[in-house]
Amino acid sequence: MPWRGLITQQSTFYFLSSILCPLWASGFFIMTDKLIIFDTTLRDGEQSPGASMTKDEKVRIAKALEKMRVDIIEAGFPIASHGDFEAVQSVANIIKDSTVCGLARALDKDIDRAAEALKGANSARIHTFIATSPVHMANKLQMSPEQVLEQAVKAVKRARQYTDNVEFSPEDAGRSETDFLCRIIEAVIEAGAGTINIPDTVGYTLPEHFGKLIAELRERIPNSDKAIFSVHCHNDLGLAVANSLAAVMNGARQVECTINGLGERAGNAALEEVVMGVRTRQDVFPCHTDLDTTQIVTCSRLVSNITGFPVQPNKAIVGANAFAHEAGIHQDGVLKHRETYEIMRAEDVGWRANRMVLGKHSGRNAFRERLKSLNIEFDSEESVNAAFARFKDLADKKHEIYDEDLQALVSDTLMTEHEQVKLVALKVCSETGETPHANVTLNMDGVENSVAASGSGPVDATFKAIETLVNSQTNLLVYSVNNITNGSDAQGEVGVRLEKDGQVVNATAK
Ligand code: KIV
Ligand code: ZN
Repeated sequence: MPWRGLITQQSTFYFLSSILCPLWASGFFIMTDKLIIFDTTLRDGEQSPGASMTKDEKVRIAKALEKMRVDIIEAGFPIASHGDFEAVQSVANIIKDSTVCGLARALDKDIDRAAEALKGANSARIHTFIATSPVHMANKLQMSPEQVLEQAVKAVKRARQYTDNVEFSPEDAGRSETDFLCRIIEAVIEAGAGTINIPDTVGYTLPEHFGKLIAELRERIPNSDKAIFSVHCHNDLGLAVANSLAAVMNGARQVECTINGLGERAGNAALEEVVMGVRTRQDVFPCHTDLDTTQIVTCSRLVSNITGFPVQPNKAIVGANAFAHEAGIHQDGVLKHRETYEIMRAEDVGWRANRMVLGKHSGRNAFRERLKSLNIEFDSEESVNAAFARFKDLADKKHEIYDEDLQALVSDTLMTEHEQVKLVALKVCSETGETPHANVTLNMDGVENSVAASGSGPVDATFKAIETLVNSQTNLLVYSVNNITNGSDAQGEVGVRLEKDGQVVNATAK
């Protein structure tokens, strides 16, 4: 009888454990905690001025986050508007593998609305918050600390009537008194909050202090072991990621973050930096994430395309130059031994070594498959056809089509489906010694109109001509042109930020 036949299931177990246990005991295998990644791109990220997203765009981003294996997706603030409610509802109905979270102030009506929006979710979380810093309690809430504590407990209990998965945030914890934080956190854990999130709402803290705060809260609060501690850091001093990582070193096991660091004012901690920080420095972090990091670049581009917020070239992990070596001495070093100047592998975050994917002879199936791998799906055959026709046009002009080209092309296709104002023709003249002028023809709701205008430059002349036709009365805050791909035939991306009556809108076009 072959020896393998003698090994029963039970004996296999003892055989393996006799080898593995001594290794385990000697520290050969180190079991690390899981660091929960809570993405708030669709909620706090959307609070960036001008970064508002439609319901469909939010669903596209949520699907990309799910594919990246983000643990929790905060999909919005359901009480804030009907649109927010619907977006949370759609995300909750579609996402299966990630927990979907809705934000609610510590008010009955907010919690009820969040619960209603999350009804269809496979796994739902209600995140309720109330401010605890003296400045917020006195001026914004006009409540005493006792009233705040009472309202927080009441909110958590109400949320627990809908789900076991309740998160509580003492807003502006970074400027709150530690003694009061200890009291309120102990009370909300007692009331049923399973996650305690410590927000540095105004980006005021410093890594050493913030790390110590987390350690102190965990140590002093008697029931702290009944909850997971989370952090939510804003980037006003450029320290959001550093503060988040300091908190992780001190026992936080959930980080709230956003793709590309999008978020209110200077933004939130960038998901890609937190995740790669933990992964790259496994020698110091006693925890790991479950993320598929190869999806990071795709998610970053998707969010940038949808919001119109370009990613700066020198942005860590996802910037175009993040893995580019310019100096000869660096190039030489990397060619001889990659680790000389690289601490991460570009492929591990989704940069492809060979990113040229399609050409003019590629067929519809190859096109569709490539888009699928970029998380781009169409809801109708007409949209696929429109995008494919644009792809063929582009392939005629440009023989190397990169992923970036495809993403740009698809975003344009989805946008032009709902176009009210369409550019029919543009002629711009800029000549030495002459005043630049532009001729623009627009189709507005089916009617074509042309106009000519001059300006201090070709762009100014073009904007003046457009404004004459559309009469938007908006202020142009930002106008930028960046190349998306390389070479003299690169596609360019134009970004425009407009403002009217305090409302800011961003748009990009390729
Ligand atoms: O920054 C903040 O305090 C927040 C809370 C709602 C968590 O976004
Ligand atoms: Zn925030």
